[in-house]
Amino acid sequence: MFSFGKYCVLFLLLKSILSDSGSSNQVVLLDTTTVLGELDWKTYPVNGWDAITEMDEQNRPIHTFQVCHVMEPNQNNWLRSGWIQRQFAQRVYVELRFTLRDCNSIPWVSGTCKETFNLFYLQTNEPLSAGTRFRPTDYAKVDTIAADESFTQTDLGDRVLRLNTEVREVGPVTQKGFYLAFQDVGACIALVSVKVFYKRCPSTLRNLAAFPDTVPHMDSSSLVEVRGSCVENAEERDTPKLYCGADGDWLVPLGHCVCSTGHEEMDGHCRACKPGFFKAYAGNTKCSKCPLQSSSHDQAATICHCDKGFYRAIKDPSTMACTRPPSAPRNLVSLINDTALFLRWMAPSDTGGRNDITYNILCQRCDGGDGSETQCEPCEPDLRFIPRPLGIAGTSVAILDFAVQANYTFHVEAVNGVSELGVAARSLANVTVNTRQAGPALVGAVRKDWASHNSIALSWSQVEQPPSDIVDYEIKYYEKEQEQLRYSSTRTKAPSVVVTGLRPSTVYVFHVRARMATGFTAYSPKFEFATAAEDPEIADQGQVLVVVTASVGGFSLLVILTLFLLITGRCQGYIKARMKSDDNRTRFHSGHVPFSGIKTYVDPDTYEDPTQAVEEFAKEIDPSYICIDRVIGTGEFGEVCSGRLRIPGRKDVAVAIKTLKGGYMEPQRREFLREASIIGQFHNSNIIRLEGVVTRSRPVMIVVEYMENGALDTFLRTRDGQFTVLQLVGMLRGIAVGMNYLSDMGYVHRDLAARNILVDENLVCKVSDFSMSRVLEDDSDAAYTSTGGKIPIRWTAPEAIAYGKFSSASDVWSYGIVMWEVMSYGERPYWEMSNQDVILSIEEGYRLPAPIGCPVTLHQLMLHCWQKESSQRPCFSDILTFLDKLIINPSSLLTLVNDSLSFPDSPEDMPDYPLFISIGDWLDSIKMSQYKNNFLAAGYTTLDSISTMSIEDVKRIGVCLIGHQRRIISSIQSLRLQLHHIQQSGFQV
Ligand code: ADE
Repeated sequence: MFSFGKYCVLFLLLKSILSDSGSSNQVVLLDTTTVLGELDWKTYPVNGWDAITEMDEQNRPIHTFQVCHVMEPNQNNWLRSGWIQRQFAQRVYVELRFTLRDCNSIPWVSGTCKETFNLFYLQTNEPLSAGTRFRPTDYAKVDTIAADESFTQTDLGDRVLRLNTEVREVGPVTQKGFYLAFQDVGACIALVSVKVFYKRCPSTLRNLAAFPDTVPHMDSSSLVEVRGSCVENAEERDTPKLYCGADGDWLVPLGHCVCSTGHEEMDGHCRACKPGFFKAYAGNTKCSKCPLQSSSHDQAATICHCDKGFYRAIKDPSTMACTRPPSAPRNLVSLINDTALFLRWMAPSDTGGRNDITYNILCQRCDGGDGSETQCEPCEPDLRFIPRPLGIAGTSVAILDFAVQANYTFHVEAVNGVSELGVAARSLANVTVNTRQAGPALVGAVRKDWASHNSIALSWSQVEQPPSDIVDYEIKYYEKEQEQLRYSSTRTKAPSVVVTGLRPSTVYVFHVRARMATGFTAYSPKFEFATAAEDPEIADQGQVLVVVTASVGGFSLLVILTLFLLITGRCQGYIKARMKSDDNRTRFHSGHVPFSGIKTYVDPDTYEDPTQAVEEFAKEIDPSYICIDRVIGTGEFGEVCSGRLRIPGRKDVAVAIKTLKGGYMEPQRREFLREASIIGQFHNSNIIRLEGVVTRSRPVMIVVEYMENGALDTFLRTRDGQFTVLQLVGMLRGIAVGMNYLSDMGYVHRDLAARNILVDENLVCKVSDFSMSRVLEDDSDAAYTSTGGKIPIRWTAPEAIAYGKFSSASDVWSYGIVMWEVMSYGERPYWEMSNQDVILSIEEGYRLPAPIGCPVTLHQLMLHCWQKESSQRPCFSDILTFLDKLIINPSSLLTLVNDSLSFPDSPEDMPDYPLFISIGDWLDSIKMSQYKNNFLAAGYTTLDSISTMSIEDVKRIGVCLIGHQRRIISSIQSLRLQLHHIQQSGFQV
């Protein structure tokens, strides 16, 4: 065997490398650097591979395997691992660290020395028995392993370590275990370590939910949905879920848990509130300090208890300080004039900590005092309190209808929301009033003049001359026998009245008082009069009259009602229609209502609150109806996933789900949802369809129909040359239909480009990406203009770039560019020219040449879309009509643009091509280096000489793949255009 020389010096260098312990999303099934005992790997033949075990300074073994029979021909040396149990792995990875000697550095071995070895594996359900013969044919090949870096004798001398690390995937492994085998065919190898592992998403805590270790799906593009369980003392809001990806990463967190009452979130767990703190509701809030006059002595308090003498009313929130009843009102005074008695007081000095104080007036009449014993009893029930006797919010009350010559005692009680809870004495202030000063009663006797069954006529005279003019009289009356006194009153200017609406055969009590400019006098004494008995004849007539009136009235009412409903039904429709169009008019985006009958687009920015726009135009989806399958991309706001929408009672729909990642601020959420409120307004088969939004739970999502073939530009690039011209025109037609609809709606897209067109399984193209502001951030093709706006230059009309004049006509320009992208199978417009050069070339009158194989008519349509004057461009309906004619008459598509280079729109002939780079450099730059020899052999040695090559020439020199032919021709076109521009701008080359 050839010697490794000072190979053992490598051990010292290897030690540090081997101490790498791997990442947490790997489960290691075998790591030769950590095996302390014998590895017991087998070699076949026994003198092929050598097992060498050295000890490190901690006396731990370092196992290596070496082989180096580089001098001898026909080597076939096998090294086989022990049996490795699969555990839960489905996809197993093998990481090999090895050094490999450069054959050139070993003399005399050119025929026999190799620089690769092979990795094999064999699956079994149990270890092979000790005597099993080694049969290479039982083993399946994983890969041939070559070194990125081989080492030489000099490296050994210099102690330079050229360690290679290679990782290979083995499997799928379905049996209980497997062996690895390494085949050497004549290389000089030292296998320094072998690590076998599988990936798993490690157990984690997310949104207060715990997710267990999870092994990814065998199919690397599928995700495993995992439901989390809430951590201790947390409760579920939306079902917490995570998705485990193939690389052991957790993706798309959905739902969440919140800490229960008495607990708050800390470091991903729910911790009990400390004494002195509390949390009354489950949620993502912190424990709060106990409010004033309350305390909690234990941990995990859900409420703080009030200190002695303080209370919490039923409706008081737990965050409010505890309070107590108020003290008594202060400075209670009374005031009396002829007819009214007023009480006034001041608020208590101690409100008890509340601001809901009201006052109750308790009244007692205490007569006597003229020698006899004073007797107190509740006041007369007909005493009137203005505004009311109980629950007065202000600090005064007026009392009317009191008796003259009486002693009243009024207690004013202050109460608040906790007065009823307290055991303290009532908070009263008292005042006693004598009503002697009230004005005398002017009305003496009241007479009954006549009575019918329902009315009584009364009259009266004055007892004395009034001190001033009488304004009117007030007559107060009530049924004598009624249990609960219900007063009525009426007024008259004359000293007589007919009181009507009385019940037959009923005794009524009347008393009368006069009103003068200064107020009421006292009441007259009370008089009792009865109504007459009812006359049955009159009563019957009355009833008939009532019935007739009712039936006639009922019919007319019915007729009127019917008419009313008919009219108002219409009117309501009319009013609604009016309102809606008014509404539109105020929010209208570009100021016109189209006659086509299509609704106009409403700019969500015109809503004061953009969430209103989302509510109006997008349906809210219950997140439990959404099943996420896989992540298909990442947008500015979060992951984009594919999945299914499973609304009960409806067919499953394949959907794409855009998510808004956590930690967003409100403006980002609005911006994200803005797109939904735009798409939600469009209903056209060539515009991406909005299924709905999830806004009431996290993560916020926008759900749209799923488009199986993804973005048009990448789709075409991967299917280069595979469609007929008619199929391509069909795609263009679809895009034109969508754009025609948008322009009818008054919507200007501003970012029409093949990357923003999605393609479904039937090649139907739909316009998507409606968040212009996202274009600014997210679209790598958008660049800042001199006015500060960010614009996708290559797709944008000159007037929009120069002074921001975006319109449907500028969308038409972009449509022309999309036509060019489609006909060139996803080529980049203007190739690698800089944005600045593109702008200047367009300004000078240059336009993109026809892509290879493009019908002349289509290129003419493109040129028409690229008219400098926006008014001269076709509109989308013209484009649609034009394409329809082409489709009906496909022979018009047969004339293709001449394959050779031509620049029909260039103002001058092209100057000679510069010779400052070589053919080789050029081919390298376009990653077509493999054709260097073809060009040289065909005599193309300078860039000058290739400038007139046609696609036929390219084919002829041996470039057979259509994609490569296109790339080469496109690059030649691009070079010519750039060169011309350089010369126009005054550069001498
Ligand atoms: N990528 C972004 N949106 C998509 C959709 N609706 N369908 C497929 N891929 C997409």
